Amino acid sequence: AAPTRYEAENAVCDGTIDSNHSGFSGSGFCNSINATGVAVQFTVNAASAGTATLGVRYANGGTTDRLATVNGGATVSFPSTGAWNTWSTATTTIQVNAGTNTIRLAATTAAGLANIDYLDV
Ligand code: GCU
Repeated sequence: AAPTRYEAENAVCDGTIDSNHSGFSGSGFCNSINATGVAVQFTVNAASAGTATLGVRYANGGTTDRLATVNGGATVSFPSTGAWNTWSTATTTIQVNAGTNTIRLAATTAAGLANIDYLDV
């Protein structure tokens, strides 16, 4: 089935919802604080339990990877996209329950998260 899109402006963002770099979907993106542990947290619905593919659209105009854990587990990498208005998608998988799930991306370096546009599940 086609993924469901969850915009970061509707998620819990440890920072600000910004719109100063073009190319985002919806009304903005989550610009988290530049610090370890900051997060963007989505509430998503899964039709059934099992493995779900996550697609995280992001921009990283810096030169180094930004890294985040997904629900405290596997690390997903957000490599440089070269500019803050150049967007890419990082993918990973996670186990979900049927119904409501919390998906929390938490930064593991002092740079914080990349700018996060949306999560596709
Ligand atoms: C710049 C950019 C922000 C970005 C930040 C960062 O300030 O304009 O959108 O979030 O760098 O390094 O995270």
